[in-house]
Amino acid sequence: RQNERESLLIVLNFAKTFFQETLLQTDEGKSIGLSYFRERGFTNPTIEAFDLGYSLDQWDALLQEGSRRGYSRDLLEKAGLILSKENNKTFDRFRGRVMFPIHNVSGRVIAFGARILKADKTQPKYLNSPETTVYHKSQVLYGIFQAKQAIRQEDVCYLTEGYTDVISLHQAGIKNVVASSGTSLTTEQIRLIARFTPNVTILYDGDAAGIKAALRGLDMVLEEGLNLRLLLLPDGEDPDSYVHKVGADAFKLYIRNHSKDFIDFKASQWLAEAGDNPLKRAEGISDVCASITRIPDPLKRQTLSQRVAQVFHVSEQSVISEINRLLRQQQ
Ligand code: CTP
Ligand code: MN
Ligand code: MN
Ligand code: MN
Ligand code: MN
Repeated sequence: RQNERESLLIVLNFAKTFFQETLLQTDEGKSIGLSYFRERGFTNPTIEAFDLGYSLDQWDALLQEGSRRGYSRDLLEKAGLILSKENNKTFDRFRGRVMFPIHNVSGRVIAFGARILKADKTQPKYLNSPETTVYHKSQVLYGIFQAKQAIRQEDVCYLTEGYTDVISLHQAGIKNVVASSGTSLTTEQIRLIARFTPNVTILYDGDAAGIKAALRGLDMVLEEGLNLRLLLLPDGEDPDSYVHKVGADAFKLYIRNHSKDFIDFKASQWLAEAGDNPLKRAEGISDVCASITRIPDPLKRQTLSQRVAQVFHVSEQSVISEINRLLRQQQ
């Protein structure tokens, strides 16, 4: 077991280096991969810090080089790097894509995300490694290795949706950033953050999917006893596009001025929808109370009921009794 793990990590590290060399030293890598990263505004230190690479647009470039170096097909396949079809044809999983290695907390490469260069309706924008002995995507946060020191220092972790959000914020000097990368947030991912800070700020894309994902993640973060703030980027923007548009200082200011705690975040969604409709308002209060019941600490629940009462202009007693009603229901 231990041996297989180590062999996989070694072959994944070989692949990482191969993709890096392909990006920086081949004509195809430079003219396609590197110019793509340049267009996205990624500098050399950024490309190096995230070990970014490029996979040649060929059937088996990695397989051939791997075989030459003595890595077996079986190992390459167990690492998720090659695929075998029924007719015994074997080929590289990642071809003609820019490569985003995924590191574990201690900095070993455990998987890859791979992006196509031009929009293509017949192919997924990102292709990711499959689950392997060393890669369990529900337990991993993209960027955690590059971010962990800054998360401790700043005592807050910014949680984003995607690879390029992490990278562009890091390049702008905002390094306490990770991404759940295409999976909806899991309890294991939240516990990973909790090793470094009790404070999470969700920075999701300003589209319908982003709002939905934020609402889904909200209760899970509260359940783990963490403090949560949320921020939606302006519609159509994500952290990557927005930091490139406004710059690092304005981005930080935007977070400071527009992030909300979960009560204000939920309340503003509900109040916008409810207007004067008292039934909708009641529904909103109940929904916020439901989130409060997820918080394990009774003292925190108590303090937060006061806030709910203020925000919705109702008595604190009515909020407390709603919370207690919901808690009884859950037993
Ligand atoms: N994702 C994925 N597979 C897809 C689309 C998205 O795994 N087909 C994951 C990726 O980790 C991606 C994240 O979901 O980074 C967020 O998706 P999206 O916002 O669509 O992509 P961006 O990160 O904004 O990527 P880009 O800026 O390169 O378009
Ligand atoms: Mn490196
Ligand atoms: Mn999106
Ligand atoms: Mn995005
Ligand atoms: Mn984007």
